[in-house]
Amino acid sequence: MKYLIGLDIGTSGVKGLLVSKQGKIAASFRSGYEVHNPKSGWAEQDPEDWWQATREVLQKLTQKLKDSSSEVSCISFSGQMHSSVFLDKDDQVIRPAILWSDTRTSDECQEIEDKVGGRKNLIKLTGNRALEGFTAPKVLWLRNNEPENYAKCHTLLLPKDYIRWRLTGQKNMDYSDAAGTLMLDVAGKQWNSELLSALQIDKSILPPLCESVDIVGKVTKGAAELTGLKEGTPVVAGGADNACGAVGSGMIKEGRVMVSVGSSGVVLAPAQNYQAEPEGKLHLFNHAAPDSYYYMGVMLAAGQALSWAKNNILPESWNYDILNNRASQISPGSEGLIFLPYLYGERTPHADAQARGVFFGLSARHDKSHLARSVMEGVTFGLKDSLELIKKRGVVIEKVRAIGGGAKSKVWQQIIADIFAVPVDLLEMEEGPAFGAAMLAGVGVGMFKDFSEVDKELIKVRTTIEPKAENIDKYHKNYQVYKSLYPALKDIFPSIIE
Ligand code: XUL
Repeated sequence: MKYLIGLDIGTSGVKGLLVSKQGKIAASFRSGYEVHNPKSGWAEQDPEDWWQATREVLQKLTQKLKDSSSEVSCISFSGQMHSSVFLDKDDQVIRPAILWSDTRTSDECQEIEDKVGGRKNLIKLTGNRALEGFTAPKVLWLRNNEPENYAKCHTLLLPKDYIRWRLTGQKNMDYSDAAGTLMLDVAGKQWNSELLSALQIDKSILPPLCESVDIVGKVTKGAAELTGLKEGTPVVAGGADNACGAVGSGMIKEGRVMVSVGSSGVVLAPAQNYQAEPEGKLHLFNHAAPDSYYYMGVMLAAGQALSWAKNNILPESWNYDILNNRASQISPGSEGLIFLPYLYGERTPHADAQARGVFFGLSARHDKSHLARSVMEGVTFGLKDSLELIKKRGVVIEKVRAIGGGAKSKVWQQIIADIFAVPVDLLEMEEGPAFGAAMLAGVGVGMFKDFSEVDKELIKVRTTIEPKAENIDKYHKNYQVYKSLYPALKDIFPSIIE
């Protein structure tokens, strides 16, 4: 038997899948690591932790194959987007990676807009506005704050590119991940010379570009010894985690919409043409399928908001089953309790690193179950904000597909259907970005003809959650209140930032 390996280098850990030609999961392993927050608003990881977790997962996957005469045809990657790996001239990591969820770079975002002649011009150049999580502001932050490290910086990679380099010795970046650096000419598929020269960033620190499905190297002898993979196994570039999540859930065709409730919350719609949202409220990035794009709204705390509540305000004895059960006993609308999910600031629709979380409307009637449900509802209102922006791009939304850990909760699935007021499709097999990465490996190595074949043969809807008419109105009313809260609080948030 021949298998594909899809590896997701995520924020909370590495997940690896062994996938057959029929799309069946033969094995799945995960190895976790921490996000470090050395200062408020900072989020960092040591790339060595990703590598150690990758080794552990690959060793387990390859061990599984040892007893049979099976082999790995190809391996590919999905990775957390935007997070910066700075390497020196000897390819040593210079400092911890600054993650997508880190908000230290507000000044640098302003600096970028100023240097390119304003936000409109930046959107014209890159399809996007500058946001704290993107990579270019991190490069400028390094220059402004750690000049000694900046002087040493020889190469900039993203997480999955770093891991791929450790397996193959080759440095590359695919378009779907490069788009999230803000340094790509998204439409022209080349590094954005005009932007780089305005920011005085040396193009030589950026690796060669490639398609997500390109074979960019082979597993080296040294990496083979450390992982159990066979020396010479072909390695396909892979893509940004959201692009891979989209591939793995059939989000290639225009007209479909995906909602992902992972650590972050994402609403994504494939787009055939390059047409940026005029104010840059939605991201516009290259898809992992060649020559297509996607619009995306991103919330910084989705699943992370619920895990925060679970770890900090709900009883220790509550696991997620209990939490879901308690939330399901509360009526839709949480009896007037509304949660603003801006625990880490926000990206879409309010690009505001200083926004903060709020429980609005607390009364003595509310108990812990209300708090749990209102967190799910508040996150979903935030996702609806992105859905509305996508509608404005002309996408007719008849239904959505839900993926990610949060979308495994029955009560949350119904909340999504009711707040979005459209049916929610759930997939037969939902393995997230790692599955999409395996599909990229399969297309890259010729095991699958193309993405249409993957979509037709391997991605099946298991069930559809219909919205309940009686809840739609209720949520519509609460959503209007939710929407009015951020503008009312916007100018007050900065006064409580420490
Ligand atoms: C997307 C983003 C997050 C990360 C999560 O722009 O920042 O969804 O990709 O890994």
